[in-house]
Amino acid sequence: MTKLTFILPDGSSQEVEATAGHSVMKTAISNSVNGIVAECNGSLACATCHVFLDDASAAQIDPPGETENDLLDFAAVERQPTSRLSCQVMVDNLPDGAVITMPETQV
Ligand code: FES
Repeated sequence: MTKLTFILPDGSSQEVEATAGHSVMKTAISNSVNGIVAECNGSLACATCHVFLDDASAAQIDPPGETENDLLDFAAVERQPTSRLSCQVMVDNLPDGAVITMPETQV
């Protein structure tokens, strides 16, 4: 299992044990982590699963694909260099202890 720390919109944090084979979006929702909407349920069509990865985690995984990259331009909160759509980031690819920060809002 991979331990993830989510930084919530109110500044508090929540640690979860993530299950291999799940996306970060699915992990957040299944652990009742506040801050993800995931309107399209992971179909790569909404940008309401926007998150900011810590620098080390962002550097370790493959960069966003073309569609993810385009959608990030439509996120409710302006994208940053480590922005990702959490439905496209698999837990298995993140280092243990990755820190994932939620934006202020998804809509
Ligand atoms: S849940 Fe819609 S793009 Fe990720």
